[in-house]
Amino acid sequence: MIAQHPAIRRYGTAAIAEVAREIARGGIVAVPTETVYGLAADATDAAAVARIYAAKGRPGFNPLIVHVPDLAAAERIAVFDAEARALAARWWPGPLTLVLPLRRDAGIAALVTAGLDTIALRVPAHRAMRALLEACGKPLAAPSANASNGISPTRAEHVAASLGERVPLIVDDGACAAGVESTIVMAGRILRPGPITAEQLGLPLAASEGKVSAPGQLATHYAPSKPLRLNAVSGAPGEWLIGFGAVVGDDTLSASGDPVEAAARLFDALHRADASDPAAIAVAPVPEAGIGAAINDRLRRAAHR
Ligand code: TXA
Ligand code: MG
Repeated sequence: MIAQHPAIRRYGTAAIAEVAREIARGGIVAVPTETVYGLAADATDAAAVARIYAAKGRPGFNPLIVHVPDLAAAERIAVFDAEARALAARWWPGPLTLVLPLRRDAGIAALVTAGLDTIALRVPAHRAMRALLEACGKPLAAPSANASNGISPTRAEHVAASLGERVPLIVDDGACAAGVESTIVMAGRILRPGPITAEQLGLPLAASEGKVSAPGQLATHYAPSKPLRLNAVSGAPGEWLIGFGAVVGDDTLSASGDPVEAAARLFDALHRADASDPAAIAVAPVPEAGIGAAINDRLRRAAHR
């Protein structure tokens, strides 16, 4: 059998028209957002959504985030209270996901929410995802465009390497600016730390252990294929060291110790570490403040096996 490779299209009018046609006929496409690349399908088309789960090899109980162009579109799908509306007004478009009560008449495929009576919604800021939402006029379900339990993709090449022929089309618009998945908020608590920090939101982090409310926050969600050691100040023999600040390694999250740069480079660095010769990975400590909470959350998951 001849291996099929996905078509990678540079972002532009022609690329968006092509992927919108693919979405309209029930297909799946990979498209960048400001956080990570997403694997998108029409959220009102159950068969299309099933193709996302199949391509990712994702467990059926793990619900997907739905992307919409604006707050008005979001309010047609979920019930907003004053607090949710204030968060949306302040942070959308941007890397904030709100989990809210689902409107049963919104036409969202049940597979999207995996049977929950809530739905995760966000209004993305990235030009490619926004152009696709406008072109297809449908809410788009889009988890990160990687095989289940793999490293999230922050470049088109990561998507191609992880999903291969399981995704027919990828829109390439370079590296994602934020580099970690959106912050998820439900009922005044942060279910998943992300680019918008707990400090910025003024909200507490929900205790994550054993949470049924965020099934995707499984401990092993972000695992590379090798063992990973945290808080390493130097590399041991046989380790690929990812540095930060003063800890100089084979690679660095940020030589200047900038946590925002580190978040943007995190998954790229994990992909490089996974592809390197050494059998193990070590990562320098990253301060927990601000977006550091999201970086350390992803690193702990990557280390858990
Ligand atoms: O930045 C992002 O959010 C990226 C880009 C592509 O937009 N998307 C993303 O989606 O990370 P995904 O499907 O990989 O992550 C969905 C997360 C999972 O942790 C899932 O459990 C949680 O959202 N989730 C979805 N619906 C939920 C719900 N109704 N209640 C609680 N958690 C929910
Ligand atoms: Mg993911």
